[in-house]
Amino acid sequence: MEYMLLWRMLPLLALGASFLFLFYVQNYSSKLPHKECSLLPYQRYWIASKRIVTPQGVISGAVEIKEGKIVTIVKEEDRHWNSKEGHVVDYGEAVVMPGLIDMHAHLDDPGRADWEGFPSGTKAAAAGGITTLVDMPLNNFPSTMSQETLKLKIEAAKERIYVDVGFWGGLVPENAFNSSSLEGLLNAGALGLKSFMCPSGINDFPMTNINHIKEGLSVLAKYRRPLLVHAELQQDSESHLEIKEGSDDPRLYSTYLKTRPPSWEEAAIKELVTVTKDTRNGGPAEGAHLHIVHLSDSSSSLDLIKKAKSGGDSITVETCPHYLAFSAEEIQDGDTRFKCSPPIRDSANKEKLWEALLEGHIDVLSSDHSPTLPELKLLDDGNFLKAWGGISSLQFILPVTWSYGQKYGVTLEQLALWWSERPAKLAGLELKGAIAVGNHADIAIWEPEVEFDLNDGYTVYLKHPSISAYMGSKLSGRTLATFVRGNLVYKKEEHAPAACGVPILAR
Ligand SMILES: *[C@@H]1O[C@H](CO)[C@@H](O)[C@H](O)[C@H]1NC(C)=O
Ligand SMILES: *[C@@H]1O[C@H](CO)[C@@H](O)[C@H](O)[C@H]1NC(C)=O
Ligand SMILES: [Zn+2]
Repeated sequence: MEYMLLWRMLPLLALGASFLFLFYVQNYSSKLPHKECSLLPYQRYWIASKRIVTPQGVISGAVEIKEGKIVTIVKEEDRHWNSKEGHVVDYGEAVVMPGLIDMHAHLDDPGRADWEGFPSGTKAAAAGGITTLVDMPLNNFPSTMSQETLKLKIEAAKERIYVDVGFWGGLVPENAFNSSSLEGLLNAGALGLKSFMCPSGINDFPMTNINHIKEGLSVLAKYRRPLLVHAELQQDSESHLEIKEGSDDPRLYSTYLKTRPPSWEEAAIKELVTVTKDTRNGGPAEGAHLHIVHLSDSSSSLDLIKKAKSGGDSITVETCPHYLAFSAEEIQDGDTRFKCSPPIRDSANKEKLWEALLEGHIDVLSSDHSPTLPELKLLDDGNFLKAWGGISSLQFILPVTWSYGQKYGVTLEQLALWWSERPAKLAGLELKGAIAVGNHADIAIWEPEVEFDLNDGYTVYLKHPSISAYMGSKLSGRTLATFVRGNLVYKKEEHAPAACGVPILAR
């Protein structure tokens, strides 16, 4: 009883506890900051501001950075620091926050770099205050499902990433029952695995069933790394059959929405919670963790997750800014920029997602940035059933969460929790996720009050800005500067000359 209460009241603590045993070592390579990596020519300096977001709250003061790490944090009133001790960058009223960690992005590199690619994707990330992202194992080619294919990823990232990048590996039928294959992938540094319970949208990445997932969890238990699951299970519902027969207009958003009802998410999660029992203390997969990606259904699916959590299963769930910003009623017919799966549902569902996030039942946010070529989005044709499913959003996740969160009283501390602290714990990134002494100096500086129009005059670093559902909207929260391990990698529409992000590998 006591345990259940603690779990409910302190979801973060519970999440932390299940991962305390992790010991990931990151490969920073031997590169030290140098003038190509940083727009600031100092190895030791202070960042000062009236609003610094720390795990202990928002303070006015300064943070000292030395050789890529945070070495001192002082409050204004304890003025132990002054300009004599080193260079001070004073950001005044701008917010100094831990850099965002996006644990779910598709950069499609190698193999489909014309969809996004490491350089444009990580430049967009840096411009949006993201300091680390974890790349998904599919939409690149070949898919990342073996030691060899992970090596191709790491090779492709070399000197082409502007922020730090970790990698999920793929759990697919081909490797699920082959523990030496999975172990090879995990030994090579995959931070965890990802699988689909429905067709992934790309033939090179086949779906798994619950037996594959159970097997995957048992291997992951030894490594204490998570399994991320796309939880939709195809149900041959009547509405689905109807559409197959072609009776509905494919340009109507409602037609698409009907093809992927909430019952698909619910059915998948119902199966998943039969195997997450294994992750409980003393269970056969203790040490493994199951994380449900991009939840859209805020009703029955969420109830199942809550129940599993309270029973002691090691399970968490994320949602994405597009489910919190948009609702089905607002999506114009033919506007396939908004197609993603699971789909964006109605506004009542959206309100309940916000409620769950604010109450801590949804643990974390991710972008699920999933771009493609404009021609595959079928923007002219507007056929929702044939267009590529995926929302392009990476550069905008901070201002979107902030702008749409205003109505719900979202705080800076909550942003740091959803976008930095919890993703760091889930991905096992020990020295990231908070402005704390000893951590990497991964920092986003931004002005929450500054409004901007996302129009043609706005500099978007994504490869295909036209396919982003956010183009045309008005947002508030402009990024001023982004530091990755102490390197000033972005400031006011300028990136550092060299791409000095490093691959993050688990060990
Ligand atoms: C770390 O990265 C460097 C440079 O990319 C590489 O030479 C080295 O082998 C890596 N070390 C590990 C343990 O992966
Ligand atoms: C299992 O994977 C290993 C390493 O990838 C491979 O050499 C072996 O042939 C696979 N075994 C089976 C039965 O597919
Ligand atoms: Zn995805």
